[in-house]
Amino acid sequence: MEEELINIKNTAMSFILESENLESLEEVKQQFLGKNGKLTLALKDISKLPKEKRPEIGKLANEVKLTIEETIKEKVAQLGKLEYKKEEIIDITLPGIKPSLGHLHLITQAIEEISAIFEKIGFTRVRYPEVEWDWYAFTALNFPQNHPARDDWETFFVKQKPNLKKGSVLLTPHTSSGQIREMERKKTPPIKMLNIAKCYRRQSDVSHTPMFHQFEGLVVDKNISITHLKGTLDYFVRSYFGQNRKSRIRPYHFQFTEPSFEVDVSCGVCEGKGCKLCKAGWLEMGGAGMVHPNVLRFGGIDPKKYIGFAFGWGVERVVMMKEGLEIDDLRLLYSNNLDFLEQF
Ligand code: PHE
Repeated sequence: MEEELINIKNTAMSFILESENLESLEEVKQQFLGKNGKLTLALKDISKLPKEKRPEIGKLANEVKLTIEETIKEKVAQLGKLEYKKEEIIDITLPGIKPSLGHLHLITQAIEEISAIFEKIGFTRVRYPEVEWDWYAFTALNFPQNHPARDDWETFFVKQKPNLKKGSVLLTPHTSSGQIREMERKKTPPIKMLNIAKCYRRQSDVSHTPMFHQFEGLVVDKNISITHLKGTLDYFVRSYFGQNRKSRIRPYHFQFTEPSFEVDVSCGVCEGKGCKLCKAGWLEMGGAGMVHPNVLRFGGIDPKKYIGFAFGWGVERVVMMKEGLEIDDLRLLYSNNLDFLEQF
Protein backbone atom coordinates (compact mmCIF):
# COMPACT_ATOMS: atom_id res chain seq x y z
CA MET A 1 0.00 0.00 0.00
CA GLU A 2 2.74 2.35 0.98
CA GLU A 3 4.56 1.69 -2.22
CA GLU A 4 1.39 2.22 -4.26
CA LEU A 5 0.88 5.63 -2.69
CA ILE A 6 4.45 6.71 -3.40
CA ASN A 7 3.98 5.53 -6.97
CA ILE A 8 0.78 7.52 -7.39
CA LYS A 9 2.54 10.60 -6.06
CA ASN A 10 5.48 10.28 -8.43
CA THR A 11 3.41 9.70 -11.59
CA ALA A 12 1.02 12.51 -10.65
CA MET A 13 3.95 14.88 -10.12
CA SER A 14 5.57 14.10 -13.44
CA PHE A 15 2.24 14.47 -15.29
CA ILE A 16 1.62 17.80 -13.62
CA LEU A 17 5.04 19.14 -14.45
CA GLU A 18 4.72 18.03 -18.05
CA SER A 19 1.31 19.65 -18.66
CA GLU A 20 1.54 22.49 -21.06
CA ASN A 21 -1.83 24.08 -20.62
CA LEU A 22 -4.70 24.35 -18.18
CA GLU A 23 -6.76 21.76 -20.03
CA SER A 24 -4.25 18.96 -19.74
CA LEU A 25 -3.66 19.94 -16.14
CA GLU A 26 -7.36 19.52 -15.45
CA GLU A 27 -7.20 16.05 -16.97
CA VAL A 28 -4.34 15.09 -14.70
CA LYS A 29 -6.29 16.39 -11.72
CA GLN A 30 -9.31 14.22 -12.63
CA GLN A 31 -7.08 11.24 -13.22
CA PHE A 32 -5.74 11.37 -9.67
CA LEU A 33 -8.10 13.32 -7.47
CA GLY A 34 -11.41 12.91 -9.38
CA LYS A 35 -14.27 10.64 -8.31
CA ASN A 36 -12.60 7.61 -9.82
CA GLY A 37 -9.15 9.04 -9.59
CA LYS A 38 -6.24 6.81 -8.66
CA LEU A 39 -5.67 8.44 -5.30
CA THR A 40 -9.38 8.61 -4.48
CA LEU A 41 -9.69 4.88 -5.04
CA ALA A 42 -6.54 4.15 -3.07
CA LEU A 43 -7.91 6.13 -0.13
CA LYS A 44 -11.02 3.96 -0.15
CA ASP A 45 -8.83 0.89 0.21
CA ILE A 46 -7.42 2.16 3.50
CA SER A 47 -10.52 1.01 5.34
CA LYS A 48 -9.69 -2.53 4.25
CA LEU A 49 -6.33 -2.44 6.00
CA PRO A 50 -5.75 -3.93 9.44
CA LYS A 51 -6.58 -1.35 12.13
CA GLU A 52 -3.06 -0.80 13.42
CA LYS A 53 -1.79 0.04 9.92
CA ARG A 54 -4.47 2.60 9.12
CA PRO A 55 -3.17 5.69 10.95
CA GLU A 56 0.26 5.46 9.41
CA ILE A 57 -0.97 4.85 5.85
CA GLY A 58 -3.77 7.39 6.31
CA LYS A 59 -1.21 10.04 7.20
CA LEU A 60 0.92 9.20 4.19
CA ALA A 61 -2.12 9.23 1.88
CA ASN A 62 -3.03 12.69 3.15
CA GLU A 63 0.46 13.97 2.53
CA VAL A 64 0.37 12.62 -1.03
CA LYS A 65 -2.97 14.30 -1.65
CA LEU A 66 -1.73 17.64 -0.29
CA THR A 67 1.45 17.51 -2.35
CA ILE A 68 -0.50 16.78 -5.53
CA GLU A 69 -2.98 19.60 -4.83
CA GLU A 70 -0.20 22.10 -4.03
CA THR A 71 1.77 21.23 -7.15
CA ILE A 72 -1.35 21.60 -9.30
CA LYS A 73 -1.99 25.02 -7.75
CA GLU A 74 1.55 26.18 -8.50
CA LYS A 75 1.35 24.90 -12.03
CA VAL A 76 -1.99 26.66 -12.59
CA ALA A 77 -0.44 29.94 -11.46
CA GLN A 78 2.54 29.40 -13.73
CA LEU A 79 0.43 28.53 -16.77
CA GLY A 80 -1.97 31.38 -16.03
CA LYS A 81 0.82 33.83 -16.60
CA LEU A 82 1.50 32.38 -20.01
CA GLU A 83 -2.11 32.24 -21.13
CA TYR A 84 -3.08 35.51 -22.83
CA LYS A 85 -6.27 37.35 -22.22
CA LYS A 86 -8.30 37.95 -25.35
CA GLU A 87 -7.75 41.70 -25.36
CA GLU A 88 -4.01 41.19 -25.13
CA ILE A 89 -3.76 39.16 -28.30
CA ILE A 90 -2.16 41.12 -31.13
CA ASP A 91 -3.38 40.47 -34.63
CA ILE A 92 -0.17 40.74 -36.59
CA THR A 93 -2.04 40.75 -39.90
CA LEU A 94 -3.63 44.15 -39.15
CA PRO A 95 -2.01 47.19 -40.85
CA GLY A 96 0.32 49.02 -38.44
CA ILE A 97 0.03 52.50 -37.01
CA LYS A 98 2.57 54.74 -38.72
CA PRO A 99 4.74 56.77 -36.33
CA SER A 100 4.48 60.42 -37.28
CA LEU A 101 7.54 61.71 -39.12
CA GLY A 102 8.78 65.27 -38.75
CA HIS A 103 10.41 67.31 -41.48
CA LEU A 104 12.84 70.17 -41.83
CA HIS A 105 11.67 73.63 -40.83
CA LEU A 106 10.41 75.85 -43.63
CA ILE A 107 13.43 78.12 -43.26
CA THR A 108 15.91 75.22 -43.23
CA GLN A 109 14.36 73.93 -46.45
CA ALA A 110 14.80 77.38 -48.02
CA ILE A 111 18.44 77.59 -46.87
CA GLU A 112 19.16 74.26 -48.59
CA GLU A 113 17.43 75.39 -51.76
CA ILE A 114 19.22 78.75 -51.85
CA SER A 115 22.61 77.10 -51.21
CA ALA A 116 22.04 74.66 -54.08
CA ILE A 117 21.16 77.52 -56.47
CA PHE A 118 24.37 79.41 -55.71
CA GLU A 119 26.56 76.30 -55.58
CA LYS A 120 25.61 75.67 -59.22
CA ILE A 121 27.36 78.89 -60.26
CA GLY A 122 30.43 78.30 -58.13
CA PHE A 123 29.67 79.98 -54.80
CA THR A 124 31.20 78.36 -51.73
CA ARG A 125 28.91 78.08 -48.74
CA VAL A 126 30.51 79.35 -45.53
CA ARG A 127 29.27 80.07 -42.04
CA TYR A 128 30.73 82.66 -39.69
CA PRO A 129 30.21 83.37 -35.97
CA GLU A 130 26.89 84.61 -34.67
CA VAL A 131 28.68 86.16 -31.71
CA GLU A 132 30.94 88.63 -33.43
CA TRP A 133 33.35 91.51 -32.85
CA ASP A 134 32.27 95.05 -33.68
CA TRP A 135 35.23 95.13 -36.10
CA TYR A 136 33.69 92.57 -38.49
CA ALA A 137 30.11 93.76 -38.14
CA PHE A 138 30.74 97.52 -38.35
CA THR A 139 34.18 99.14 -38.30
CA ALA A 140 35.77 97.11 -41.11
CA LEU A 141 32.56 97.58 -43.09
CA ASN A 142 33.19 101.31 -43.14
CA PHE A 143 30.69 102.29 -40.44
CA PRO A 144 31.69 105.49 -38.64
CA GLN A 145 31.93 105.26 -34.84
CA ASN A 146 28.72 107.27 -34.35
CA HIS A 147 26.56 105.33 -36.84
CA PRO A 148 23.03 104.69 -35.47
CA ALA A 149 23.22 100.94 -36.21
CA ARG A 150 25.67 100.70 -33.30
CA ASP A 151 23.03 102.06 -30.96
CA ASP A 152 21.90 99.32 -28.63
CA TRP A 153 18.33 99.90 -29.70
CA GLU A 154 19.40 98.22 -32.94
CA THR A 155 22.12 95.76 -32.01
CA PHE A 156 22.49 93.31 -29.11
CA PHE A 157 25.76 93.85 -27.29
CA VAL A 158 27.32 91.12 -25.20
CA LYS A 159 28.50 92.12 -21.74
CA GLN A 160 32.17 91.42 -22.17
CA LYS A 161 35.38 93.43 -22.05
CA PRO A 162 35.99 94.95 -25.50
CA ASN A 163 39.01 93.76 -27.45
CA LEU A 164 41.62 96.46 -27.98
CA LYS A 165 41.68 96.00 -31.74
CA LYS A 166 38.30 94.46 -32.51
CA GLY A 167 36.06 96.37 -30.12
CA SER A 168 32.90 95.13 -28.38
CA VAL A 169 31.29 91.73 -28.62
CA LEU A 170 27.84 91.63 -30.19
CA LEU A 171 25.32 89.35 -31.88
CA THR A 172 25.89 89.88 -35.57
CA PRO A 173 23.10 92.05 -37.02
CA HIS A 174 23.80 91.01 -40.63
CA THR A 175 25.74 88.45 -42.65
CA SER A 176 27.96 91.21 -44.10
CA SER A 177 30.31 90.53 -41.15
CA GLY A 178 31.29 87.43 -43.13
CA GLN A 179 32.73 89.58 -45.95
CA ILE A 180 35.86 90.59 -44.03
CA ARG A 181 36.20 87.12 -42.48
CA GLU A 182 36.13 85.54 -45.94
CA MET A 183 38.71 88.01 -47.27
CA GLU A 184 40.94 87.08 -44.31
CA ARG A 185 40.43 83.38 -44.96
CA LYS A 186 41.11 83.47 -48.71
CA LYS A 187 43.77 86.22 -48.59
CA THR A 188 43.83 86.57 -52.38
CA PRO A 189 40.86 86.66 -54.78
CA PRO A 190 38.99 85.15 -56.55
CA ILE A 191 36.38 85.02 -53.78
CA LYS A 192 32.90 83.65 -54.37
CA MET A 193 31.24 83.29 -51.01
CA LEU A 194 27.74 82.46 -49.87
CA ASN A 195 27.33 83.12 -46.16
CA ILE A 196 24.03 82.06 -44.60
CA ALA A 197 23.63 82.70 -40.91
CA LYS A 198 21.39 83.70 -38.06
CA CYS A 199 21.27 87.45 -37.46
CA TYR A 200 19.98 89.38 -34.48
CA ARG A 201 18.41 92.80 -34.15
CA ARG A 202 16.49 94.44 -31.39
CA GLN A 203 13.10 94.19 -33.04
CA SER A 204 10.02 92.12 -32.38
CA ASP A 205 6.69 92.87 -34.02
CA VAL A 206 4.33 91.32 -36.57
CA SER A 207 6.88 91.61 -39.37
CA HIS A 208 10.13 91.19 -37.38
CA THR A 209 11.66 88.53 -35.16
CA PRO A 210 14.75 89.31 -33.01
CA MET A 211 16.50 86.36 -34.68
CA PHE A 212 16.25 85.95 -38.44
CA HIS A 213 18.39 84.60 -41.28
CA GLN A 214 20.28 86.30 -44.07
CA PHE A 215 22.12 84.96 -47.07
CA GLU A 216 25.00 87.01 -48.31
CA GLY A 217 26.94 86.75 -51.52
CA LEU A 218 30.38 88.23 -52.02
CA VAL A 219 32.38 88.10 -55.24
CA VAL A 220 35.84 89.66 -55.48
CA ASP A 221 38.00 89.31 -58.57
CA LYS A 222 39.61 91.31 -61.37
CA ASN A 223 37.35 93.18 -63.81
CA ILE A 224 34.09 92.70 -61.93
CA SER A 225 31.29 95.08 -62.89
CA ILE A 226 27.69 95.86 -62.03
CA THR A 227 26.57 93.61 -64.91
CA HIS A 228 27.99 90.60 -63.01
CA LEU A 229 25.92 91.62 -60.03
CA LYS A 230 22.81 92.11 -62.14
CA GLY A 231 23.35 88.76 -63.91
CA THR A 232 23.69 86.98 -60.58
CA LEU A 233 20.51 88.63 -59.27
CA ASP A 234 18.58 87.65 -62.40
CA TYR A 235 19.88 84.09 -62.18
CA PHE A 236 18.83 83.78 -58.54
CA VAL A 237 15.42 85.36 -59.06
CA ARG A 238 14.64 83.06 -62.01
CA SER A 239 15.90 79.92 -60.24
CA TYR A 240 14.21 80.60 -56.94
CA PHE A 241 10.97 82.39 -57.85
CA GLY A 242 10.38 81.12 -61.39
CA GLN A 243 11.59 81.65 -64.97
CA ASN A 244 9.16 84.52 -65.66
CA ARG A 245 10.38 86.68 -62.76
CA LYS A 246 12.73 89.64 -63.20
CA SER A 247 14.98 91.66 -60.93
CA ARG A 248 15.48 95.41 -60.79
CA ILE A 249 18.05 97.54 -58.95
CA ARG A 250 17.39 100.99 -57.51
CA PRO A 251 19.98 103.42 -56.08
CA TYR A 252 20.28 103.19 -52.30
CA HIS A 253 22.85 103.69 -49.55
CA PHE A 254 24.96 101.28 -47.54
CA GLN A 255 28.21 102.10 -45.73
CA PHE A 256 30.05 99.15 -47.20
CA THR A 257 29.05 99.32 -50.86
CA GLU A 258 29.46 102.08 -53.45
CA PRO A 259 27.34 102.35 -55.48
CA SER A 260 24.59 100.68 -53.41
CA PHE A 261 21.29 99.30 -54.58
CA GLU A 262 18.00 98.05 -53.34
CA VAL A 263 16.88 94.99 -55.27
CA ASP A 264 13.27 94.38 -56.31
CA VAL A 265 11.63 91.29 -57.83
CA SER A 266 8.77 91.51 -60.28
CA CYS A 267 5.50 90.52 -58.65
CA GLY A 268 4.46 86.92 -59.33
CA VAL A 269 0.75 87.65 -59.02
CA CYS A 270 0.38 90.47 -61.58
CA GLU A 271 3.68 89.91 -63.44
CA GLY A 272 4.76 93.51 -63.00
CA LYS A 273 1.50 95.25 -63.87
CA GLY A 274 0.68 96.28 -60.32
CA CYS A 275 -1.80 94.64 -57.93
CA LYS A 276 -2.96 94.61 -54.29
CA LEU A 277 0.05 92.54 -53.17
CA CYS A 278 2.80 94.67 -54.72
CA LYS A 279 1.14 97.98 -55.53
CA ALA A 280 3.51 98.99 -58.37
CA GLY A 281 4.45 95.61 -59.86
CA TRP A 282 7.61 95.10 -57.81
CA LEU A 283 8.42 93.58 -54.42
CA GLU A 284 11.41 94.71 -52.35
CA MET A 285 13.93 91.96 -51.74
CA GLY A 286 17.03 93.46 -50.06
CA GLY A 287 20.37 95.21 -50.49
CA ALA A 288 23.30 94.90 -52.85
CA GLY A 289 26.19 96.93 -54.21
CA MET A 290 29.80 97.14 -55.36
CA VAL A 291 32.19 96.51 -52.45
CA HIS A 292 33.52 99.82 -51.05
CA PRO A 293 37.31 100.20 -51.58
CA ASN A 294 37.74 100.80 -47.84
CA VAL A 295 36.17 97.41 -47.11
CA LEU A 296 38.56 95.64 -49.50
CA ARG A 297 41.43 97.49 -47.83
CA PHE A 298 40.25 96.45 -44.33
CA GLY A 299 40.06 92.88 -45.63
CA GLY A 300 43.68 93.08 -46.80
CA ILE A 301 42.86 93.24 -50.53
CA ASP A 302 44.24 95.91 -52.87
CA PRO A 303 41.29 97.90 -54.27
CA LYS A 304 43.44 99.05 -57.19
CA LYS A 305 43.78 95.46 -58.42
CA TYR A 306 40.49 93.94 -57.36
CA ILE A 307 36.85 94.86 -57.33
CA GLY A 308 33.79 93.09 -55.98
CA PHE A 309 30.06 92.99 -55.52
CA ALA A 310 27.93 91.88 -52.59
CA PHE A 311 24.30 91.27 -51.78
CA GLY A 312 22.47 90.35 -48.60
CA TRP A 313 18.85 89.35 -48.21
CA GLY A 314 16.58 87.94 -45.54
CA VAL A 315 15.76 84.24 -45.90
CA GLU A 316 12.39 84.70 -44.17
CA ARG A 317 11.55 87.50 -46.56
CA VAL A 318 12.28 85.57 -49.77
CA VAL A 319 10.38 82.54 -48.43
CA MET A 320 7.28 84.66 -47.76
CA MET A 321 7.58 86.20 -51.20
CA LYS A 322 8.00 82.87 -52.94
CA GLU A 323 5.18 81.09 -51.17
CA GLY A 324 2.91 84.11 -51.54
CA LEU A 325 2.42 83.78 -47.80
CA GLU A 326 0.72 86.55 -45.94
CA ILE A 327 1.51 85.58 -42.38
CA ASP A 328 -0.23 87.88 -39.91
CA ASP A 329 2.66 87.57 -37.52
CA LEU A 330 6.13 86.54 -38.67
CA ARG A 331 6.93 85.40 -35.12
CA LEU A 332 4.74 82.35 -35.85
CA LEU A 333 7.73 80.89 -37.73
CA TYR A 334 9.62 80.43 -34.47
CA SER A 335 6.76 79.72 -32.08
CA ASN A 336 6.95 75.88 -32.35
CA ASN A 337 3.31 75.82 -33.35
CA LEU A 338 2.98 72.41 -35.05
CA ASP A 339 -0.37 73.21 -36.70
CA PHE A 340 1.44 75.96 -38.57
CA LEU A 341 4.75 74.19 -39.23
CA GLU A 342 3.21 70.93 -40.45
CA GLN A 343 1.79 72.75 -43.48
CA PHE A 344 5.20 73.16 -45.09
N1 PHE B 1 23.83 93.97 -44.81
C1 PHE B 1 22.76 94.67 -45.46
C2 PHE B 1 21.51 94.59 -44.58
O1 PHE B 1 21.49 93.85 -43.63
C3 PHE B 1 22.45 94.10 -46.81
C4 PHE B 1 23.57 94.23 -47.82
C5 PHE B 1 24.47 93.22 -48.01
C6 PHE B 1 23.70 95.38 -48.59
C7 PHE B 1 25.49 93.32 -48.95
C8 PHE B 1 24.68 95.50 -49.53
C9 PHE B 1 25.59 94.49 -49.71
O2 PHE B 1 20.53 95.26 -44.82
